[in-house]
Amino acid sequence: MPFKPTDSATLSTGIKIPVIANGSWAPSTGNARAEAKDWTLTALKAGYRHIDTAQGYGTENSVGLAIKESGLKREEVFITTKLPFTDHDNVQQSFNESLENLGVDYVDLYLLHWPQFIRFDGTESRENAKAISSPTFSEVWFEIEKIFEQKKAKAIGVSNFSIKNLEILLKSAKVVPAANQVELHPYLAQNELREYCRSKGIVVVAYAPSGYSQVRNDPVIGQIAQEHNVTPNQVILGWHLARETVVVPKSQDVRRQRDNITLPVLSEDDVKKIDALDRGERICNKPDESGLVWGWSMEQLGW
Ligand SMILES: NC(=O)c1ccc[n+]([C@@H]2O[C@H](COP(=O)([O-])OP(=O)(O)OC[C@H]3O[C@@H](n4cnc5c(N)ncnc54)[C@H](OP(=O)(O)O)[C@@H]3O)[C@@H](O)[C@H]2O)c1
Repeated sequence: MPFKPTDSATLSTGIKIPVIANGSWAPSTGNARAEAKDWTLTALKAGYRHIDTAQGYGTENSVGLAIKESGLKREEVFITTKLPFTDHDNVQQSFNESLENLGVDYVDLYLLHWPQFIRFDGTESRENAKAISSPTFSEVWFEIEKIFEQKKAKAIGVSNFSIKNLEILLKSAKVVPAANQVELHPYLAQNELREYCRSKGIVVVAYAPSGYSQVRNDPVIGQIAQEHNVTPNQVILGWHLARETVVVPKSQDVRRQRDNITLPVLSEDDVKKIDALDRGERICNKPDESGLVWGWSMEQLGW
């Protein structure tokens, strides 16, 4: 059954995850991260009940303030946050910092943001990301499992994990990740990974779900948008819901936030046409000139 925008999916731990989140990545420049408070608040007022943040985005504080200002009860908002790839050797302290930043005493979903542990050699730019071999992500997961056991996270999961790395993780994991948040849009449909995750009870969550202007400007998307009298972004998000994928779009504009939860019901034919656009193309996190994504090769990532 296709998801409706107001639906929630059920994670393996039994908790419900609203199928549309508003993201909260913001650049580190100027006041952008502080301003995330205002647009997270408009998202909550527009009806979003799932906010996706990460300690690495520097917006946990803004998200926490927005939730408080919204007047919603803590349990009415599903909060996802993530362990930074620089904190793999410091999981408990980093998690406690996230709780403090958010001003809450539990999170709904805590994700291992990346499989690789890195240190920056200089400024925090991709070319300065240096991978460190210990602890391994399986060892990091062991620490994240403790957070779940202590009930400080209602569910735990991973992000940017391939089948290859999930296979390694599952060899020693006591708790199967409840979710895997990955780049997923019509140009990168991730069908094999989706199938694998389904077989393990792992819910796939799509980040960069629009595929940005590359996918929004695709003529097939434009045509379907015209037929439904909606925007290309709404068509793309409608496609995700038709495929029962939890999505994390991000908008800081209240009109576009409303659009992103007001989605067309696509026909089977529309969905097939969009399925056919898949070309395995990464648009958000693609390798740099040396073939690395944050210090790891495509082979190490299993991408
Ligand atoms: N786990 C990870 O490694 C990872 C990586 C990347 C992202 N994420 C998460 O996923 C979230 C979303 O990722 P994303 O920002 O790449 O998502 P996205 O929704 O695919 O793209 C956001 C961009 O699309 C624009 N936009 C949003 N709604 C629109 C609409 N209806 N029409 C036209 N343009 C629209 C936004 O501009 P406006 O804001 O001006 O509307 C923004 O420039 C992030 O905020 C973060 O929480 C996770």
